[in-house]
Amino acid sequence: MSSATSRRTLESLRSQRWLAPDDMRSFAHRQRLQQMGLRREEFLDRPVIAIINTWSDLSPCHSHLRERAEAVKRGILLAGGFPVELPALSLGEVMVKPTTMIYRNFLAMETEELLRSLPIDGAVLLGGCDKTTPGMLMGAISMDIPAIFCPAGPMLNDRYRGQSVGAGTHTKKFWDDYVAGDIAKPEWIKLEAKMTRSPGTCNTMGTASTMTSIVEAMGFTLPGATSIPAMDANHVRMASQCGERIVGMVWEDLKPSRFFTRASLSNGVAAYMALGGSTNAAIHLIAIAGRAGMALSLDEMDAMAQKVPVIANLFPSGDKLMEDFFYAGGLPALLKEITPQLDLTALTVTGRSLGENIADAVCLDDSVIRKVAQPVADGAALAVLRGNLCPGGAVIKPSAANPKFARHRGRALVFDSNAEMLAQIHAPDLDIDENTVLILRNGGPIGAPGMPEWGNLPVPKKLLQQGVRDMVRISDARMSGTHYGTCVLHVTPEAAVGGPLALVRTGDMIELDIAARSLNMDVPEEELARRRAAWQAPAQKYARGYTRLYMEHVTQADQGCDLDFLLGNAATPEPPIF
Ligand code: FES
Ligand code: MG
Repeated sequence: MSSATSRRTLESLRSQRWLAPDDMRSFAHRQRLQQMGLRREEFLDRPVIAIINTWSDLSPCHSHLRERAEAVKRGILLAGGFPVELPALSLGEVMVKPTTMIYRNFLAMETEELLRSLPIDGAVLLGGCDKTTPGMLMGAISMDIPAIFCPAGPMLNDRYRGQSVGAGTHTKKFWDDYVAGDIAKPEWIKLEAKMTRSPGTCNTMGTASTMTSIVEAMGFTLPGATSIPAMDANHVRMASQCGERIVGMVWEDLKPSRFFTRASLSNGVAAYMALGGSTNAAIHLIAIAGRAGMALSLDEMDAMAQKVPVIANLFPSGDKLMEDFFYAGGLPALLKEITPQLDLTALTVTGRSLGENIADAVCLDDSVIRKVAQPVADGAALAVLRGNLCPGGAVIKPSAANPKFARHRGRALVFDSNAEMLAQIHAPDLDIDENTVLILRNGGPIGAPGMPEWGNLPVPKKLLQQGVRDMVRISDARMSGTHYGTCVLHVTPEAAVGGPLALVRTGDMIELDIAARSLNMDVPEEELARRRAAWQAPAQKYARGYTRLYMEHVTQADQGCDLDFLLGNAATPEPPIF
């Protein structure tokens, strides 16, 4: 289907229902725009384009977006549209407590309602830090008006003592060295100014680049947009081009329901695996698909992971950074390499197919974008585990785990909360060795609440000092996409709703077998039944506000952690005329 097939008339644009009628209400709309110094000619008889901007003073990854919105506006004006910048909830991953995850759905609702309640014909979505991309996209898909995603872009590379250092991944590495006593305090303080060298999203294959790249593979960005460093002049030009393109998309009525199909979704999953993307994507992709009325299962993603090896040599699976990825040809070059796993006929925001978009892509450095025959890691980007500890599924990222734990039996050491874990984990007399399996529960969507990135439990100081840097860890929480380790995450159902994770006790033997996709506790069923009968749900701490709404309606990780009343692709009604 060509996007040019349906050309809209001016009269059919939704903004015209606010601005064009000769009635008192519309008079007020026009009057109030002129109050801001706009001439009638600037906003009448043209598409009104929203720039949804997630800039804020506490979002370092988005700190350039206020300026970048000006470039988007230029593009919109050039194409004959009228740009309006609408600020939206800014989810700076590192500042927001307990976790931005709890607010992803809030941003999705805000995006949908901004687009619904105002005279908007199309939208440029400006963001990129982890939850911003899925949040904005979920809202735009639900609203279903033409929308293009303009990614914030990764921060610049940095080096420290001659080696590449990346946001998140090296913070974690250096922290372990500091706790072990291998890094002294003055050097530790100096490191605060390293790894994050410029505005932009994390420069490793963390959740931000995972999600923006997936969204590109699904057709929501201009080709190659997500790999451009935030501080590159190419990034400014790309932003302007997004502005120009969205006006065309409005006239073509190229809205998500016309191009976001099962084929695009599958292309996104394939890209996720080739990138060695963050485990967080396994939740966000299900949620994004759900907004378009498409079911995506964990097992479908596992099946793709077994077909598509990790070929992006980026931290934490590899040893390069996003700037290197850009120089090597970026996402289009990676997609070219996995062409057999893609549906190249899928339509994109360009009005052309994915195949047409990447036709000229070339890989310029195969040490960064590897050949499929020479993958970065033996392990896949994702494996989905099941067993009596996680009947609804759990995930692990084998490509960033220690292969020696791929099959492991060890004694559980269980923590009931993150606070309890933090209070005890570094105690010198902790009863633990490197084969112990650390378990953290009550870190799930309802238990925490919001499913924070607590799943990369720290290796106890006692073991760090012995040189141990990885252990098997299990939780119903998530893990930062920039982190690495043998961490089983997203255990479903979570402990707080009475999932079997709530029943495990310190001393139980735990069996992990990644190849067999299994995770079990070696506890007889009669004993589990006794424990289940004695289990009591934790007290509900939040009596009011958004957190209460979230806890009452959030779905489990295998369902995408969306709010149950936001699922599905029922039409969003336009506000009534008054
Ligand atoms: Fe914003 Fe990593 S903290 S992208
Ligand atoms: Mg992150």
